[in-house]
Amino acid sequence: MLTLLTALLPYAFLPTAYGACINASSNPKAVYTMTNDVPNSILAFAVSTNLSLEIPVSVATGGNGGQSIAKGVPNYPDTLASGHSVEVFDRYLFNVNAGSNSVSMFEIAITDPTQLRLLGAFPAPGDFPVSLAVAHSIVCVGFAGARTGVSCAPWDSTGIGSFDLIRPTASNDTRQVTPPDVSFDIACLTDILFTGDGSALVAVATGSNISTDSTLTVWPLDYTTGQLALEESGRASLPGIRVGFSGASLPGTSQLFLTDGLTGAFVVDTASLYHGDDDDDDDDDDVLLSHTVVPGQIASCWAQVHEETGLGFIADSNLNRFVQVDVSTGEIRRTFNSTNGNDGYLDVKIVGDTLFALGVREQPRAKFISVFDLAGDVGDVENVPIPGGDVLGMGLAVFV
Ligand SMILES: *[C@@H]1O[C@H](CO)[C@@H](O)[C@H](O)[C@H]1NC(C)=O
Ligand SMILES: *[C@@H]1O[C@H](CO)[C@@H](O)[C@H](O)[C@H]1NC(C)=O
Ligand SMILES: *[C@@H]1O[C@H](CO)[C@@H](O)[C@H](O)[C@H]1NC(C)=O
Ligand SMILES: *[C@@H]1O[C@H](CO)[C@@H](O)[C@H](O)[C@H]1NC(C)=O
Ligand SMILES: *[C@@H]1O[C@H](CO)[C@@H](O)[C@H](O)[C@H]1NC(C)=O
Repeated sequence: MLTLLTALLPYAFLPTAYGACINASSNPKAVYTMTNDVPNSILAFAVSTNLSLEIPVSVATGGNGGQSIAKGVPNYPDTLASGHSVEVFDRYLFNVNAGSNSVSMFEIAITDPTQLRLLGAFPAPGDFPVSLAVAHSIVCVGFAGARTGVSCAPWDSTGIGSFDLIRPTASNDTRQVTPPDVSFDIACLTDILFTGDGSALVAVATGSNISTDSTLTVWPLDYTTGQLALEESGRASLPGIRVGFSGASLPGTSQLFLTDGLTGAFVVDTASLYHGDDDDDDDDDDVLLSHTVVPGQIASCWAQVHEETGLGFIADSNLNRFVQVDVSTGEIRRTFNSTNGNDGYLDVKIVGDTLFALGVREQPRAKFISVFDLAGDVGDVENVPIPGGDVLGMGLAVFV
């Protein structure tokens, strides 16, 4: 049972999105994605030192995947329309089960990280969980369905405790349904992230009907207790950003590099939203630092930052390329066109100089784990089909 969770150990938050808390090498050892099927499974691919992927090991999550709806039909290829649906923290793996309102947690075997031990599928109080943010002793989940918002729970090596009350987001669009309508006629939660300085959780939601701006909602994280405040400390609407989607926190800062599905990407500084001293909801000039409009983009929805170069890499679900942006200025630096035959990319993850992406092909429908080398000029490394032709799959996480 989860008795330890009621008496949390002394809390020490260390930002870990970039591996600061574990003394990690940057050698990827395993890559995980999720079938997002009914029932849902994790596929674990061992990564050799030469970056070749082995045949994956499949393990049931104990829950069901889900598929959002767009213009009345099941949404594809980005079935969850979100970022961070599968996360690794230290030697644990977490995933959402959008179709059964739960979060699964696994222990990763250090000696063979494809061996996952299910600690449980833990019930979550909202509808259609799509995104996770994990820190030392706390896991938060974002819901995109009718009961939308964010809920958090303590966790330890035995599993996840009880999730707390749902915090509404700034969009708070009560028209949302389950599974969610992601035509973006209705505002929709798409991602949640801890800031890179460990101060707060940020929820990203699209605008509604592509006519209102996307929003951020921020809740402070208490360093001493490991709890996320139930009351938000700030919210912002982002002028000109209609389909704010997902991205990455910049290490050690209050800034995030996020995508806009309609135009490209943007950088925000959430510091003014930490303390509740900015209660003018519409005066958000200090939040949006840059907005990068990417020529020819179709659906820029996922992004990561390469620490070494400070370049943000933007993935587009309909283009076989990565556009690279200087996150300090928002300027486009270069574009890498891949020759691996994919049609586009969903979730991405950068570890050291390696970029992993969930590749998509339309004819016939298939998904891939695509690997790129970022050292020097960006290069294709390999493109490994996800067996079983699982077309509902989402999520990407890496164990180093
Ligand atoms: C991390 O690695 C450094 C350098 O190898 C070593 O000095 C340090 O003790 C390690 N820390 C932990 C927590 O393992
Ligand atoms: C990479 O390593 C794997 C496992 O050790 C091996 O089977 C494979 O042949 C290697 N590939 C290349 C291109 O060296
Ligand atoms: C969310 O919407 C409901 C219904 O319109 C409203 O009662 C509630 O105050 C809103 N909450 C927030 C935090 O905006
Ligand atoms: C959304 O926009 C369309 C086209 O502009 C309009 O017909 C529709 O009424 C709008 N819906 C809502 C809920 O505002
Ligand atoms: C990538 O492809 C686009 C469209 O085909 C082309 O305009 C662009 O020059 C290419 N960029 C590079 C760096 O090859």
